[in-house]
Amino acid sequence: MFPDVRQLTSTTAIQVVAYSSTRVDVSDEEVVKLVLACGRRNHAFRITGELWFGETRFFQLFEGDPARVQKLYENLRRDPRHCDMVIYHDSLEPTRRCANFTTHVFDGDESQAIERLIHRFVSKRS
Ligand SMILES: Cc1cc2nc3c(=O)[nH]c(=O)nc-3n(C[C@H](O)[C@H](O)[C@H](O)COP(=O)(O)O)c2cc1C
Repeated sequence: MFPDVRQLTSTTAIQVVAYSSTRVDVSDEEVVKLVLACGRRNHAFRITGELWFGETRFFQLFEGDPARVQKLYENLRRDPRHCDMVIYHDSLEPTRRCANFTTHVFDGDESQAIERLIHRFVSKRS
């Protein structure tokens, strides 16, 4: 599903991925630890984007150097803290959409919030 990094013509290309997933039996304390670790790792690897979480779901947009993005994608697929990943967007773009990496808590109905995020991040630019 990912473009072959070797075929990229520009070294400045940014890969952008957006997905939702289902949270799997992890405590709020563990989610807070996860979010803090994500912030540190993403800063180190120049991954930007947004991570949204609630009682039952996650939504994340992450972007950066394609090799880093693909590594993170592989980590996410193996991570037992969530399941049922649905990819909404995967593209190479000339610039980042987000200046940094931020985390947010869903306010209200999580499925509706995810629909709004898909519309905001995916529909308009895919
Ligand atoms: C919903 C969710 C979002 C995550 N987001 C990130 C992220 O943005 N950056 C990151 O480094 N790890 C993230 N992780 C954790 C990774 O799955 C993985 O644990 C981490 O990259 C460390 O991988 P490693 O154990 O191979 O070093 C996330 C995990 C979950 C469940």
